[in-house]
Amino acid sequence: MATASRTAETAPATRNARVFPPGFLWGTATAAYQIEGAAAEGGRTPSIWDTFSHTPGRTRNGDTGDVACDHYHRWREDLAIMADLGVGAYRFSVSWPRVQPGGSGPASREGLDFYSRLVDGLLDKGIKPVVTLYHWDLPQELETGAGSGSAAGGGWPERATAERFAEYASLVAGALGDRVERWTTLNEPWCSAFLGYGSGVHAPGRTDQADALRAAHHLNLAHGLGTQALRAALPAGAQTSVTLNLHHVRPLTDDPADLDAARRIDGVANRVFTGPMLRGEYPDDVLRDTAHLTDWSFVRDGDLADIHQPLDFLGVNYYSPTLVSAASGPGTHNADGHGASEHSPWPGGDDVAFHRTPGETTAMGWTIDPSGMYDLLLRVRDDFPGMPVVITENGAAFDDYVDPEGRVLDPQRISYLHGHLAAVHRAIEAGADVRGYFLWSLLDNFEWGYGYSKRFGAVYVDYATGRRIPKESARWYAKVVRDGALPP
Ligand code: NOJ
Repeated sequence: MATASRTAETAPATRNARVFPPGFLWGTATAAYQIEGAAAEGGRTPSIWDTFSHTPGRTRNGDTGDVACDHYHRWREDLAIMADLGVGAYRFSVSWPRVQPGGSGPASREGLDFYSRLVDGLLDKGIKPVVTLYHWDLPQELETGAGSGSAAGGGWPERATAERFAEYASLVAGALGDRVERWTTLNEPWCSAFLGYGSGVHAPGRTDQADALRAAHHLNLAHGLGTQALRAALPAGAQTSVTLNLHHVRPLTDDPADLDAARRIDGVANRVFTGPMLRGEYPDDVLRDTAHLTDWSFVRDGDLADIHQPLDFLGVNYYSPTLVSAASGPGTHNADGHGASEHSPWPGGDDVAFHRTPGETTAMGWTIDPSGMYDLLLRVRDDFPGMPVVITENGAAFDDYVDPEGRVLDPQRISYLHGHLAAVHRAIEAGADVRGYFLWSLLDNFEWGYGYSKRFGAVYVDYATGRRIPKESARWYAKVVRDGALPP
């Protein structure tokens, strides 16, 4: 009876509020090249993104990450902002060329110390660090070769890059593993493989579909070898994971040709990674669809066992769904939201057309559709029973500006976050095991090929001065985090 009356008393305040499970991890996320700057400081060597962004025509306005948000120097201020937000966790990436210049050989003490101080600062404020080892900044030597050095080059299409990654993983785990519990090997290997080596809109800007498939395999292998290296170096209880940008692929109609188009894209968007990582095999249909491009002979005996490692959780990044149909001619790959190129990032998808999903869009041109998040989480629930999920990224870019009162009002972002968190909550109620949510991003930052033209931050960055101004959405998110619940 006492319980019943307590419930009755609290009911009015919480009516319609969506309460998240106890222990749910609330965080924000960033990536090294997008925020750090200090590109030539502390012994850091160039990554493929330094080279790419310094190549004329590759990024909007020729923007580079040379200075970015200058987080390398302003990290204490950024930490204080996170503490004000009240987030329980922070997902950041380690810059490989900062901690292991050139991508092979000894670690840079100075580079590791930067992350060590950051981790200590986070822990001091009660914020759990979540480390991503690879968020796209491959040391340039591993792409072009190091001359007299030990790096052979060739980038992700080469097996040696996966082997180097495992060495790098063990070096970072050795330095931070006593304090960091949650680890992620790769961020969105789909982008590294298919935008980096297929459509060429990401570094290193190569455009060969067979190379892109080789890259996908060696990224899978890097994940597997990296996970083994992490486990060998980390104390018991550490958690390892990978972050995938799983695409929620919908067919335009239920015509069999459109269903087949969706199957194909699902294969090279999702299953080419989840197959080996979570099931220990490449799906037959993916091998078949891409057989005209490669014979997959680069997959060696033992690779699949190496890739198929137990994971403590799966990181999922979601922004917008993907709508496809069969095409009579070559596909229109420019409408897939990943940047314009005459080359497709979809091996085996030449006869697929991409469509804009109906509805409002963000400044990226991506349709706002929280139902895609819900459907995706239910699919993970069904396809990988027992696998906990953390939403490692979700958020939106809008054309934010500072108003005459010095505020940044971003009601569209609040509405986007509200809709997507409601979808996460509904998915949890439907049995999806979602353990956390990381807003992309803490700060406005270098949005890859789009440079600084797209603002994803909960905090506005005035790039001329480096000044940070929390947007209205930051205050809104802080309340959600404090309450552990979404307002009605
Ligand atoms: C995914 C990537 O991980 C991140 O680096 C990027 O800024 C966001 N999506 C937005 O495009």
